[in-house]
Amino acid sequence: MSGKRRLRSQLWFDNPDNPGMTALYLERYLNYGLTREELQSGKPIIGIAQTGSDLSPCNRHHLELAARVREGIRAAGGIAFEFPVHPIQETGKRPTAALDRNLAYLGLVEVLFGYPIDGVVLTTGCDKTTPACLMAAATVNIPAIVLSGGPMLNGWWKGERTGSGTVVWNARADHAAGKIDYAEFMDIVASSAPSVGHCNTMGTATTMNSLAEALGMSLPGCAAIPGPYRERAQMAYETGLRIVDMVWEDLKPSDILTREAFENAIVVNSAIGGSTNAPIHINAIARHIGVELNNDDWERIGYHVPLLVNLQPAGKYLGEEFHRAGGVPAVVAELMRHGLIRENALTVNGRSIGDNCRGRESSDPDVIRNFETALVRNAGFLNLSGNLFDSAIMKTSVISEDFRARFLSNPGDENAFEGRVVVFDGPEDYHHRINDESLGIDDKTLLFIRGTGPIGYPGGAEVVNMQPPDALLKRGVKSLPCIGDGRQSGTSGSPSILNASPEAAAGGGLALLRTGDRVRIDLNKRTANILISDEELASRRKALEAKGGYHVPASQTPWQEIQRQMVSQFDEGMVLKPAVKYQRVAQTAV
Ligand code: FES
Ligand code: MG
Repeated sequence: MSGKRRLRSQLWFDNPDNPGMTALYLERYLNYGLTREELQSGKPIIGIAQTGSDLSPCNRHHLELAARVREGIRAAGGIAFEFPVHPIQETGKRPTAALDRNLAYLGLVEVLFGYPIDGVVLTTGCDKTTPACLMAAATVNIPAIVLSGGPMLNGWWKGERTGSGTVVWNARADHAAGKIDYAEFMDIVASSAPSVGHCNTMGTATTMNSLAEALGMSLPGCAAIPGPYRERAQMAYETGLRIVDMVWEDLKPSDILTREAFENAIVVNSAIGGSTNAPIHINAIARHIGVELNNDDWERIGYHVPLLVNLQPAGKYLGEEFHRAGGVPAVVAELMRHGLIRENALTVNGRSIGDNCRGRESSDPDVIRNFETALVRNAGFLNLSGNLFDSAIMKTSVISEDFRARFLSNPGDENAFEGRVVVFDGPEDYHHRINDESLGIDDKTLLFIRGTGPIGYPGGAEVVNMQPPDALLKRGVKSLPCIGDGRQSGTSGSPSILNASPEAAAGGGLALLRTGDRVRIDLNKRTANILISDEELASRRKALEAKGGYHVPASQTPWQEIQRQMVSQFDEGMVLKPAVKYQRVAQTAV
């Protein structure tokens, strides 16, 4: 394609109207061997937003993949500038990695806006790295393409697949019940991390990378390729090649991240059995690109979509099988056969998602199913509301037979349950008191946790899937209904009601709940209510306000305090409210 159009990087490197600044901008980038000819040739300057580091093992493989990205960029006539993104390691950051999503977002916006970058390769992987990168690309709106790092190889223990995260939930229950000792518990969990790459289950990482592909932001087939496979490095090269042409075509996030693309992401999320973190992150990306999207859309568009992908935690297999069976394109193709995909939505390769995926087939009908053999009929989320909160998500596709029998089988009142509640204020309180017999927790109790939303536990704690007391576990009661204003890991198979908005710390009704209250959940009516009178509710609210509201622990770092002052609730994407008005901030044509 013609190289005649002047790119935004030339404002830095070749601006005859301002020789002084041009010389200053230019000279330091020569000092490691780039030539003036290269930087003034008008070639696209392509950023490689590097999320890998020793602190971020899920994404560390990108340090090596970047070499293939660079070769692709060079082969297509571009110049690569690799730079670091604030690290976000889901399993390494205290108090929670979710706190850093918006920090990484802010940092990446400043880099993409303030440096001579014409297009960017977003290296993604671990949970929040994908939304952080996409949110920033949406705000700045220069040509951008996602390169996933890919999941780890499958984990194995004694002939069984051990999936990231999911194995922890299962082994923890066995450990608590005395079936395995500490050393075996550690060995089992370690077996689930056999290679470079991110979580190999359909946790938040595989979910968000699959949704990046469904949104059209990566090349077809990118999400599922395991990190160590040769196809991963080949995909890195292809991605580098493609971003250069995207710059010449001026193909920007705003051309791709349309309402149709977001609807496709919602449909695909149900079909893959995606994480309950997805609505938070996808709603955030939508807000930053200026597309209206809320949790009602998730239920309306996503609830009736069947579960096609048989991956843990909802199913059996792991990342390698998902890739071999055809990955996201095979899932999209099956959804297309049933008219559920907006086929005209544009993708980074310049073609529509329909053209990319039409005719693709699952090569393993047990791993990627068709509609006739789907694992679950309605695999999307329900959006509940009531006097406890305005919006909370429930992933009904993971409700077990045992759970259904205990809670959702009341004759004449199926799909509803009501019970005595026990309330915890944050994860520490839960850990201290869950085995306290005086709480009277039995196999009918509803467990609540609050103080775990974006403000209460800055970033939102991943704790709503609470394990029952040891005494119940020993009797074989593996789960109780869990409800809260926090999140839960995408690797958890618990049918919790979570992401409740507004949270207790933002004045939500959860703050008024007391241990011993009764709560009714009606999945048909999509309601969740404390069964007390409006007068009692009002007097509790008055009493709480007199105390200055729900207690929020002090911030521990400057960023915790800053984010708490300006963060929106989960249903609105947990975005920084003042950031939303800055949209499409970079000029790509100069
Ligand atoms: Fe990084 Fe799961 S911990 S992807
Ligand atoms: Mg997580």
